[in-house]
Amino acid sequence: MIIERLSREHRNIETLLAVLERELEIFDRGGHPDYEVIRAIISYFELYPEMYHHPQEELVFAKLELRDPAAAAKVGNLTLEHQKGTQRLRRVAQAIDSVLADREMLRQNVDTIVRDFIENERRHITMEERYFFPAALTALKPVDWAEIALASTNHEDPLFSEAAEETFDALRARILQMEQESEAGRR
Ligand SMILES: [Fe+2]
Repeated sequence: MIIERLSREHRNIETLLAVLERELEIFDRGGHPDYEVIRAIISYFELYPEMYHHPQEELVFAKLELRDPAAAAKVGNLTLEHQKGTQRLRRVAQAIDSVLADREMLRQNVDTIVRDFIENERRHITMEERYFFPAALTALKPVDWAEIALASTNHEDPLFSEAAEETFDALRARILQMEQESEAGRR
């Protein structure tokens, strides 16, 4: 089921946001966060939500706009929200690059940028689960879901293939493993 899958992906995203937040707290205390973990999380966000999760949600949203425009209006401009998320992610990547390149950057600014990303992602997920997913489940017809499934499991497109999904699973698993190792090393 598409919505179940998107919700499951939200749980994965939340896990990575929690890891990122923990690393940020270490940074805020003036400690040494694991930049490899942070970079891997940024890479994950650049890949998975950008290339798979968001496009799939936008397919669902396009159907919702047709079936129930009022409900879609309540959700707002999903594509624009996703684009803003992309911009926030880009700022995070730039801030971390600056830190790693030893460029002058106030710790406070890095904290603000990363925290802004984390908080907005969480807010966005909450909004989707509260308004968007229930509305889609109510309004979309079986034929809509069938069309979305067809559009997103086109095996000619490497981004939407099962192999691509396994790559993302592997990357996420690697991040969590790195985090565990990093945590063990800090003890
Ligand atoms: Fe989402």
